[in-house]
Amino acid sequence: MSKTVSIRGAVTAENDVKSISSASIRLIERIYFKNGIKDEDVINITISTTPDITAFYPARAIREAGHAVPLFSCVEPSIDGALSGCIRVMATADSDNPVRNVYLSGARALRPDIAGRYAIALDGPSGAGKSTVAKLVSKTLGITYLDTGALYRALGLKAIENKVNTKDEKALEKCLDKVEVSLSYENGVQSVLLDGVDVSGRIRTPEVSMAASNVSAAPYVRKKLLGIQRKIAETQSVILDGRDIGTVVLPDAEFKYFLTASAEIRARRRFEELKAKGQNVVYEDVLRDVNERDKNDSTRAVAPLKKAYDAVEINSDDMTAEDVANLIVATVKEDVL
Ligand code: DC
Repeated sequence: MSKTVSIRGAVTAENDVKSISSASIRLIERIYFKNGIKDEDVINITISTTPDITAFYPARAIREAGHAVPLFSCVEPSIDGALSGCIRVMATADSDNPVRNVYLSGARALRPDIAGRYAIALDGPSGAGKSTVAKLVSKTLGITYLDTGALYRALGLKAIENKVNTKDEKALEKCLDKVEVSLSYENGVQSVLLDGVDVSGRIRTPEVSMAASNVSAAPYVRKKLLGIQRKIAETQSVILDGRDIGTVVLPDAEFKYFLTASAEIRARRRFEELKAKGQNVVYEDVLRDVNERDKNDSTRAVAPLKKAYDAVEINSDDMTAEDVANLIVATVKEDVL
């Protein structure tokens, strides 16, 4: 049963037809996407502009973009110190989803809780290229990259070292309860520590991959790692890659992407990667592992791999990691900078 909600949003624009038009349309389309609504769900949209917006009507731009919904426009009083060139909207709509207000570009300054930082959630199956893309995006935008899989891998390694059955939840809890897992960064490069010992070099084997997939199904493990991930995202701009970032870890992330590729292409990429590292691997084994991990990650009861309704799906079969990173960087720059 959907309920009637009020969704707010704001954007800044230059006082010219093109800027007002594109900012207004972008704001409405982002509000629709982030809230999972369409024109049919909208009861009305009220638009207010600061008095310095005189070159064009935002309502006209929205109408001309094809949104046949009731629109009402007004001009705000001139207030000393108010943000200039600001277009604000309030959309009343029927929705099943939690309300996501949308503040873009300079209008983010209106929200001290989000101003100055943002989060990008990059989810998808193993081998889709998430970590390569996330590294490129973090470098270009100068933000922190948190590889969440490394946390699960570290706990998987601990379980292997202690000869614990990675599918036995009780045994896992006993083995991992006192273990402290943490992250450290040097020149933007992440290391993962188990009880203070850097294990980053030992978590990239096929054996640890499978153990990580198994331990990640345990509710105890997910709970243990949730706080670490959220804490890092609380204080700075970040890109997190994983399976449940957009759905569970950071449901309010400003940017969400779901990166996919066919199992064959993902296995081929992982095979080349492992071979380049000097590991002795067979393509068919890698493909079997990819399929098994997909099944594990998508069918587990807690936080399964799933696209958030407000995530943009990117299929990277015919794209390079640079293509995907450029796409993400362009959207972030458009909305945030
Ligand atoms: O991304 P990766 O291959 O390093 O992740 C290792 C395993 O950890 C993967 O099979 C699923 C799990 N994982 C998860 O459940 N949730 C995350 N956010 C990240 C990884």
